Amino acid sequence: MGGIDINSLIIIGISALWVMLPAYLPNPVAAALGGGKPIDGGRCWRDGRRIFGDGKTVRGLIAGIAGGVAIGLLQILVHSHAEIVWLPEHTLVSITLLAVGALLGDLAKSFLKRRRGVERGEKWPVADQFDLVIGAFILLLIFDPGWLFSTITIPIAIAILILTPVLHRGTNIIGYILGIKDVPW
Ligand code: CTP
Ligand code: MG
Repeated sequence: MGGIDINSLIIIGISALWVMLPAYLPNPVAAALGGGKPIDGGRCWRDGRRIFGDGKTVRGLIAGIAGGVAIGLLQILVHSHAEIVWLPEHTLVSITLLAVGALLGDLAKSFLKRRRGVERGEKWPVADQFDLVIGAFILLLIFDPGWLFSTITIPIAIAILILTPVLHRGTNIIGYILGIKDVPW
């Protein structure tokens, strides 16, 4: 038996969480604080269905992005003061792209759901879990590829692919129990 030891696996897992925290937080914050005016203003697309639907609100978008940036700022602060050099380092740009990208990915996914006739709140497996990762990575690829490729190593990318659906399911079940979400997905 050789190969990967448990310590490096834990370090990779924690690094993946640390990297993705500014992208993971916006969705639960939007679910907790969202509501009010929908981003599409109630308007429909040419197929007669809503552009995004009532689940995508201005307040949710703003609060979610603010939440992601806030946790990112805290991480930058912690990183500069604590002895955690082994953790990946965030920048103002990376936390902003992660937070904005996460909710733009979520918004784009809702747009595609409506075009496919999937109702607001209805499940759309895989897309519901990875929308935030795809949105965040696309923005990073466009606006900060240097940070993306030096920070998200192959092992961290694999950890993100494994952890994202697990955390998504976990937080949605908690949100459902707390009454923040109407459905446990
Ligand atoms: N939310 C919001 N504004 C956003 C994103 C989310 O207000 N930009 C809130 C809404 O109350 C939403 C909840 O967070 O119902 C959960 O988000 P999500 O599961 O992404 O939305 P759904 O209601 O499932 O809608 P969709 O089918 O479009 O994904
Ligand atoms: Mg949903």
